[in-house]
Amino acid sequence: MIRKAARLEKIPPYLFMELRNKINKARAAGVDVISLAIGDPVEPTPAPIVEELARTARDPENHRYPTDEEKGMAALRQELCRWYARRYKATVDPEAETLVLIGSKEGCHHFALAMVNPGDTVLVTDPGYPGYKPSIWFAGAEPYAVPMTAENGFLPDLRGIPSDVARKASAFYLNYPNNPTGAVANRKFLAELVEFAKSYDIALCYDNPYIDVVFDGAEPLSILSIPGASDVAVELNSFSKWFNMTGWRLGMAMGNRTIIAAMSQVKSNTDSGVFNAIQYAGIKALRECGATIGDMLQVYARRRRKVVDTLNALGWKYTPPQGTFYLWVPTLGGKSSAEFAAELFEKAHIVVAPGSAYGRFGEGYVRFSLTVPDHRLDQAMERLRNALG
Ligand code: MLT
Repeated sequence: MIRKAARLEKIPPYLFMELRNKINKARAAGVDVISLAIGDPVEPTPAPIVEELARTARDPENHRYPTDEEKGMAALRQELCRWYARRYKATVDPEAETLVLIGSKEGCHHFALAMVNPGDTVLVTDPGYPGYKPSIWFAGAEPYAVPMTAENGFLPDLRGIPSDVARKASAFYLNYPNNPTGAVANRKFLAELVEFAKSYDIALCYDNPYIDVVFDGAEPLSILSIPGASDVAVELNSFSKWFNMTGWRLGMAMGNRTIIAAMSQVKSNTDSGVFNAIQYAGIKALRECGATIGDMLQVYARRRRKVVDTLNALGWKYTPPQGTFYLWVPTLGGKSSAEFAAELFEKAHIVVAPGSAYGRFGEGYVRFSLTVPDHRLDQAMERLRNALG
């Protein structure tokens, strides 16, 4: 009898696949489910980007393998470095420090295969993005959960990491603006993080796809703008949230050249790169569509206000975080994440992500995503008032 590989025993089903199955099943049974679960923008990709894809897709030159340049199209890497210099004051070399990815999620995976040995310890925030731990397990290493709590502003307490654990650790996965909590990091924290990583020779996998989704005066902050960061860190990023391009799968890793070269080695032995027409569309986006990010932020700010006002009218005392299009909301009445998420599903047909799916320290929270059309969010809030009011 054939059997799946033992390494898969540890890997749970991917959270959003599970939620999607639940939603599809309910919809098939006629239930009008409103999903506030996955963070997947509903606004269209700006038209010039779509038009550039259509134009370049017609050129047979682009129908061939996109492998002419191992790290992705040079023109795209150069444009990314200009974007990073202009918007985040970070100097990145397009040749040695930039790698085009099929979305930042695959970067998490390639990073582990590139930088982590079997048996290693890898630090990961808890709660943390559900893609991190499986990447660590696939590399044969063990995650070590670094707690993030409301008391610490959902920043890891670096001094609280036991020094024997830090000495053993080869890498650290984290992201700010943070998914799921929405917390942002400031320069001081990032400088401490870089120092910490340097003193223990820890490679940082700094996942930053929400860099521009910040509110209330928070600064879009790349770790690569911190002095010394490129000695130890790679930053993963993506077009998904900048330009409503989750489905396009276009991302990048930027930073430390040893990490970039190692990831490129893994990647060129794994896939054949991003369709050239998508890379051309990415260049167009960076050159011409930066202003659309401001419009997007207005949409999320409006939706955020709606949900926060509803929650507070229902008895919460909730202050929204400064980053991402997620709201990390404590459950009411001491309910567990799973109980509360189930209650919202049963009474209001609303799906939210249970905090416990993000780790032990996510217990007691649920995550609301603001990536639904306004009229559906209005309906969701009305259902919430009816269910809990
Ligand atoms: C999220 O909802 O956390 C992400 O957008 C989903 C993902 O990246 O898989």
